Amino acid sequence: MERTTTIIPQEDIQAQLAHCQAVAQLTAQWPERPLAFVDTYGCQQNEADSERLRGYLEQMGFGFTQDEEQARVIVINTCAIREHAEQRVLGNAGALVHVKRRHPEQLICLCGCMVQQPQTAQKIRESYRHVDLVFGPHALWKFPEMVHALLTHRGRRFSIEDEAGSIAEGIPVVRQDSVKAWVSIMYGCNNFCAYCIVPYVRGRERSRRPEDILAEIRQLADEGYKDITLLGQNVNSYGKDLEEPMDFADLLERINEIPGEFLIRFMTSHPKDATQKLFETMARCEKVAPALHLPFQAGNDRVLKVMNRRHTRAQYLEKIQALKALIPDIVLTSDIIVGFPGETTQEFEDTLKVLEEVRFDALFTFIFSPRKGTPAAAMDDPMSREEKLQNFNRLTALQDSISEEKHRAYVGKTLRCLVDGRSDDPRWPLTARTPGNRLVRIAGGDAAPGQFRDARITGANKWSLFGELV
Ligand code: 5AD
Ligand code: SF4
Repeated sequence: MERTTTIIPQEDIQAQLAHCQAVAQLTAQWPERPLAFVDTYGCQQNEADSERLRGYLEQMGFGFTQDEEQARVIVINTCAIREHAEQRVLGNAGALVHVKRRHPEQLICLCGCMVQQPQTAQKIRESYRHVDLVFGPHALWKFPEMVHALLTHRGRRFSIEDEAGSIAEGIPVVRQDSVKAWVSIMYGCNNFCAYCIVPYVRGRERSRRPEDILAEIRQLADEGYKDITLLGQNVNSYGKDLEEPMDFADLLERINEIPGEFLIRFMTSHPKDATQKLFETMARCEKVAPALHLPFQAGNDRVLKVMNRRHTRAQYLEKIQALKALIPDIVLTSDIIVGFPGETTQEFEDTLKVLEEVRFDALFTFIFSPRKGTPAAAMDDPMSREEKLQNFNRLTALQDSISEEKHRAYVGKTLRCLVDGRSDDPRWPLTARTPGNRLVRIAGGDAAPGQFRDARITGANKWSLFGELV
């Protein structure tokens, strides 16, 4: 297939880096090294985007702070997936008006999915006049140019043009962690699930070139990263826009060949594109973690159809069966929406049945939130909030008991875990992750984050496992 994806020319990225240098010359003359505060809401893709914003800011001469009073530049990277996320951002962005009164030189930026929606951008334009810079995901690569302009001529800037989206390579990165790393392999979504705003704000699906992805991962492996998560709204459709034929399973195979001891994870997968070839590749590639996040959203076929999910409950269950046959200890997680417009409580019970049948290790559960501009927002939604909440509580209660049972089955086993951090709780000073990414709180023993160590599991609850190093 012919490649339709736009790749930003390297000269244009170089021009952005030149803007960074120009800003660095300005900031070098300020009495103190300026600090920036980058606050991130939402998904891992946003975390990855924020790492690039920090990369640019570092080149501009900024250090980092979590204190908005200390920050010369504040960037809030926003999420639009549910109304609750937007309310939190708007509340926090609104409160900055007082901070800026104390620090009038402060530059306040709002970026990400939320501001890519025209009605939200309009609201910020009119009612959040202390916000200087607003830009959507498509404009992120031009951040240096925008900051440079605002530092030299004050004013406000909005960069929220709707577009199919592009790929920008070579943006500097400041990663938040030294053990785990995010690697975006594709951007955007073509699926248009009826409830979801993502395709409207993040543009069409586009895949990074395999050589760029492989080079980034080789470097991460050399730097000692141990847990690499490949990101995309729908990683299973990776490669459909590439000139040379390559699908997601092929990409996994190529990444698996990179030397080093590290785990490969990925998210998110769509059931309609999760193939037997993918499952076989997962089973064969020793670096690919035995874990799959496969959202099914609802268990009833009528609801799935109205959601435009393009798979049935039976097709979903068949895929899970096929995967379990190949990888019996696979850790399965999923996303579920409760209270989609028109879903009856009887239909919702089909969701509970899927839980009983699959026995997920953990779930991410959401109550439907209407997003302006999506088909579902215009659908009749007769069920009361109380009934939705009751159903939601039934769902979480059932999953809690399944999670706890699944966790208890680990007790007595010894697993090779990745030590990934330290905790403040003196009873469990270390945290680690099983290959399937379940959290293990480790008592005693010493190990540095980034080491793979055998841990014997001694206890469990519905949230996590407890263990000791052996
Ligand atoms: N309301 C509630 N949940 C939603 N999700 C996406 N859009 C909405 C919405 N409008 C959930 C889906 C998706 C996850 C990332 O967020 O379950 O898989
Ligand atoms: Fe949203 Fe569906 Fe695309 Fe996921 S696959 S981002 S739920 S439209």
